[in-house]
Amino acid sequence: MNFDHIDIVYEALSFFQENKTANFQEINQLLKAQSGVIDFFEKEADYIQLKQKVETSQSVACESRTEYGDFQTNRNLSLSITKYLSNKDITPQVLIEPTCGKGSFILSAIQTFNSLQQVFGIEIQEVYLWELKFELLEYFLKNPTANKPEIHLYHCNVFDFDFQQIKKQINGRELLVIGNPPWVTNSTLSSLNSKNLPTKSNFKNVKGIDAITGKGNFDIGEYIALNMLDLFAKEKGNFAFLIKNSVIKNIVYEQKRNKYPISNLEKHTINAQKEFGAAVDASLFVCKFNSPPEFTAKEFDFYTSKSRVTLGWINNKFASDIEKYKKYQQFDGVCPFEWRQGIKHDCAKVMELERIDGGFRNALGEEFELEEDLVYGILKSSDLQIDRIDTPRKYTIVTQKKVGQETKQILENLPKTKAYLERHKEHFLQRKSSIYKGKPMYSIFGVGDYSFKPYKVAISGLYKQTKFTLVEPNGTVLLLDDTCYFIGFDTLEEAQTVQSSLNKPEIQAFIESFMFTDAKRAITKELLMRIDFESNARQPKRCVVEGQLNLEF
Ligand SMILES: C[S@@+](CC[C@H](N)C(=O)[O-])C[C@H]1O[C@@H](n2cnc3c(N)ncnc32)[C@H](O)[C@@H]1O
Repeated sequence: MNFDHIDIVYEALSFFQENKTANFQEINQLLKAQSGVIDFFEKEADYIQLKQKVETSQSVACESRTEYGDFQTNRNLSLSITKYLSNKDITPQVLIEPTCGKGSFILSAIQTFNSLQQVFGIEIQEVYLWELKFELLEYFLKNPTANKPEIHLYHCNVFDFDFQQIKKQINGRELLVIGNPPWVTNSTLSSLNSKNLPTKSNFKNVKGIDAITGKGNFDIGEYIALNMLDLFAKEKGNFAFLIKNSVIKNIVYEQKRNKYPISNLEKHTINAQKEFGAAVDASLFVCKFNSPPEFTAKEFDFYTSKSRVTLGWINNKFASDIEKYKKYQQFDGVCPFEWRQGIKHDCAKVMELERIDGGFRNALGEEFELEEDLVYGILKSSDLQIDRIDTPRKYTIVTQKKVGQETKQILENLPKTKAYLERHKEHFLQRKSSIYKGKPMYSIFGVGDYSFKPYKVAISGLYKQTKFTLVEPNGTVLLLDDTCYFIGFDTLEEAQTVQSSLNKPEIQAFIESFMFTDAKRAITKELLMRIDFESNARQPKRCVVEGQLNLEF
């Protein structure tokens, strides 16, 4: 059998590639289990022929799904989206899909918009473009009277593509830029040593420590979305992109600086688990081009059209729920205390310890003894889901009392601790973050006098809850890890007062009004430093003294 003329769908091609080491009997068994077909290959020669075809398609189908942030939109969803746009009286003449994949949006748009005259699709994986071409052919063969725009499909890297050639052809016609760009971040790509990156990597000009601590990490989808807005926002038309909620937040946030001529910003939340099998928060972001810039976006449920909140800029502040923010904005100011992040060591296997009979056990399963001098109980985000805590599950070795301190001396009189750390030196040397470069051996971060305060008010940065926990000592001071934030106090009374102020309903509501629960780190130091929880106490209280209206401070 010659398979050259047989169209094998991508999933099947991948199946054969994943099982390419299977022999004739094995592949037939696998195929029986997978498809129910008995003797899928009747002759071994057929299987050999097929394997040759699969090998020649290797470079295409083996491209990593992660590297290309590849989550193809199902046709139901793309069709509901184009129908939604059509119901808003959007009637595009020109359509651009910058990373069109198998072309769900192109096919749905052709089906929905009779107004279309020209369609442009760009995609890096050639096999997808072939699938799209055959689908288009099938569609027009079945629907010969359907409106047939001119369709240009480019097998190209979107970062190399010259969009000016399309721009020149728009000529004032109504444009729709639609799509679902790759769902992958630049840091994931660099960990894969991938070249699927724009040339100018730190495109938002994030520099220095911010770049090191994570703000230099951006989503490729965000880069493509901003690029499209840069290129086309001045055209007559609309923009509709399926993107992560964090990307939508960033677009609206950056709108203050970018001032793109876009209005009617909408965020329609979808169920990405159901639609893409992906555990991310994503939405359809829609806006109108060529209009006075707007700085807020209305949020809806895509499936029910139920309106939720409005997010964006208000009085020079950024809020996740503008109506709620307006109610509690008196608390927006500067926190009277300095919030601190907990201890960072990036060496969990060696530095995260459990106490066992007569010693400790590390995450490598090794059991050993240590002097108690540098050992402290440490709490993680998951420990902070209760009102008060004084008992740690984990312990760590605090090799420095402040950042950058020499570690040789501190270990001098602690032979067991020194030997343990030296035995695991390699783990410390392998830490990737540049903050450890040129620092003393076994360095940690997020340590200072404040770490050793006996009482703390703490919160997790990772969990989406806004309640604050009181941390009390239990023989020794308890520390927090770098997923947590805290304020340190010398007395229980001070800590209790601050905890109860922060847990008051009005402060909790204020936090909710500007916290983005779909961010990886919902609570940040920046957010906490904005909470002026004593602002109520400073507000003039109205009280009547001897018949006079006095202002009391
Ligand atoms: C999230 S998928 C969505 C595909 C399509 N837009 C849809 O809605 O079904 C992202 C697509 O971007 C493609 N892609 C990734 N990197 C690309 C690049 N540098 N240039 C062009 N396409 C790329 C992937 O191959 C994949 O088809």
